Amino acid sequence: MQRANGAINGQDRARMFRQKAVTVWLTGLSGAGKSTIAYELEHRLMALGHACYVLDGDNVRHGLTSDLGFTLEDRRENIRRVAHVAQLMNDAGLIVITALISPMDEDRAMAREIIGHDRFVETYLTASVDDCARRDPKGLYAKARSGAIAAFTGVSAPYEPPAHPDLYVDTANQSKEASVASVFDYLHETVLLTA
Ligand code: ADX
Repeated sequence: MQRANGAINGQDRARMFRQKAVTVWLTGLSGAGKSTIAYELEHRLMALGHACYVLDGDNVRHGLTSDLGFTLEDRRENIRRVAHVAQLMNDAGLIVITALISPMDEDRAMAREIIGHDRFVETYLTASVDDCARRDPKGLYAKARSGAIAAFTGVSAPYEPPAHPDLYVDTANQSKEASVASVFDYLHETVLLTA
């Protein structure tokens, strides 16, 4: 999506930042490691001089999307807003890393449309419900299974795994470092070296 006005275009900004501004869209269950991977990846990219920014569901839900809950409609709106912010940040030249469960195929397809197919890197963190429930870092699976939290993804609300993500990351069976490295290497080979 291009702005109606303005003489500076995306190519000018990409040249200034020496990077292709993509959105790494992390999808996966609660507890799969999306925030952890997002912030570690940001750290690694920043250390190499890349300008980037993390949009984390747990954070944006305090502000940008604080009026939304966890119905499928609200999740869709959450994803729509974050996708538009990511698109603006990409247009400004930044690499964006999003960390949202984004459980539904059609909502991720919407995000891809908003951000642009050539900028959208769908990255699926494959940890299963059992893997995430075993770790249960925030105690949410225990609460969801007891019925204390309704419509919890993977327990009482759906998660549709991406059929053809750009990248799979097995956060259940490899270390945090190896998971971050696999995303970083993919970006480096496919996006950053070719910018
Ligand atoms: S999304 O479905 O709209 O993409 P998002 O990533 O923003 O979700 O928020 C998920 C986070 O909200 C979880 O990591 C968890 O901390 C919290 N949460 C609270 N209630 C729920 C719920 N019913 N289902 C999933 N996550 C929930």
